Amino acid sequence: MTEPKPRLLSGMQPSADSLHLGNYIGALLSWKALQETHDAFFFLADLHAITVPQEPELLRANTRRTTAQYIAAGIDPSRSTLFVQSQVPAHAELAWVLNTLTGFGEASRMTQFKDKAAKQGQEAASVGLFTYPILQAGDILLYQAVDVPVGEDQRQHIELTRDLAGRFNSRFGDTFTVPKPYILKDTAKIFDLQNPSSKMSKSAESHAGLIWLMDEPKVTAKKIMRAVTDTDGEVRYDREAKPGLANLLTIFAILDNRSIESVVEEFAGGGYGALKKALAEVVVGTLEPIRARTLELLDDPGELDRILGLNAERANEVAQQTLDTVYDRVGFLRRVR
Ligand code: AMP
Ligand code: TRP
Repeated sequence: MTEPKPRLLSGMQPSADSLHLGNYIGALLSWKALQETHDAFFFLADLHAITVPQEPELLRANTRRTTAQYIAAGIDPSRSTLFVQSQVPAHAELAWVLNTLTGFGEASRMTQFKDKAAKQGQEAASVGLFTYPILQAGDILLYQAVDVPVGEDQRQHIELTRDLAGRFNSRFGDTFTVPKPYILKDTAKIFDLQNPSSKMSKSAESHAGLIWLMDEPKVTAKKIMRAVTDTDGEVRYDREAKPGLANLLTIFAILDNRSIESVVEEFAGGGYGALKKALAEVVVGTLEPIRARTLELLDDPGELDRILGLNAERANEVAQQTLDTVYDRVGFLRRVR
């Protein structure tokens, strides 16, 4: 008999009309590989997205667009369960129960909340933003996920999830699998092409240093040719002294599936121009088929919604089972059917 594959879950907020190269390299490439070895659940965290104000029509459009980009980038919805969080009611329901088990002080220590609240001003920040990590804990625990691939910035939320799982289990009996953070390698961290000391991020003030999956190839190439480097002109990998060049070399090596050393060796004599030109070809060569496939998928939103519906059904079966156990354990009187 073959061992069942370990359960894995991760999510991303559908809060932009395009993913960027950092999302692609830092998250999607690993997810694509992990779906081979795991029973993977990936979802669009629309409940999380509304913790900051969203334009309703834009949220709906971005949910479809992000889904299409996932599929185009290689997340296979017949192999992984790819779904929209709000289509599985158990997420909101389990979050409520977990809210009652979370200390006010414990939630107040979440650094992402503190950062986001500081940005918006304490008065403007919603209670939803405050309980965001508890909703996230519910996402993970509903599926009894063992592995949760996330970036370093999410580590504290996974620790909270582990604490809440342990607390529930010891109070009400073994119910939840305690998940492990599966922190994606820092080597997969991509920096802003104009400001290589900052992570590539959609919240950057200027988008000149961001490569969007949905950018036209010409725009992508131009952004790479204009990437900030340094003045010594020597092609070698030095993250501290030459962060801009190091970032370009990292992107090159990952997308061209080779070592940084081999890229350095090839371009050592040639200067930055030749390296950038070749890199532009590699990036466009990777992203253009994804962009084309995304546009094709978006041409038939009905089909996209149908795929999401089927996947939500699969997700519901797993999630509802966990929620039923939780409701029993906490002492809710169950409806007779
Ligand atoms: P965000 O866009 O911040 O919601 O991030 C979504 C996912 O993409 C998370 O798993 C992040 O770890 C990953 N990610 C975002 N920006 C980068 C980046 N610059 N480099 C690598 N991974 C990133
Ligand atoms: N908070 C995560 C992020 O911003 C998104 C997310 C929501 C998530 N629920 C999750 C990630 C559950 C992993 C597991 O990136």
